Amino acid sequence: MVSKKVENALNAQVAKEAMSSQVYLAMASWAEVQGLEGVAAFLYRHSDEERAHMLKLMRYINERGGHSEVPALAKPPKMMKGIAEVFTGILKQEVEVSNEINAIVDLCLKEKDYTTHNFMQWYVAEQIEEERMARHVLDKLKMIGDDKAGLYLFDRDLQSGGPGGGGTPS
Ligand code: FEO
Repeated sequence: MVSKKVENALNAQVAKEAMSSQVYLAMASWAEVQGLEGVAAFLYRHSDEERAHMLKLMRYINERGGHSEVPALAKPPKMMKGIAEVFTGILKQEVEVSNEINAIVDLCLKEKDYTTHNFMQWYVAEQIEEERMARHVLDKLKMIGDDKAGLYLFDRDLQSGGPGGGGTPS
């Protein structure tokens, strides 16, 4: 059984993962109308993954005797300044999520909830991958600069999974 404190922290994370899914979805839609089909496909896939992160938490809360809440969502921005800003924003967001996950892990130890602590290790590992992915994409974008042919190849690369062929972490 989860304590009320842990339940609340997990429900707060449910809301954050849901919001991440919304933000990725808005970025995907923006990329699609810019003609960046590969970037859009990558971001749509990632939006689905954030929803999966949310669902995994919801199911866990319920399994452990809590009640997961479906959160209200704010409207994410419709327009982005450019592709580099999109991925800078993604890295910033993923670093924030990592900090939130670490705070939950910390709370689990304080509450002596070793079961949830164990469950959260999946998210700890996932965040390492998420940050790695965002940094990797940003490095690629820096290399490309204003090179249109480079952007074309970058877009095609993301269509088939991501730079380096590693794909989006699941
Ligand atoms: Fe669910 Fe991108 O963290």
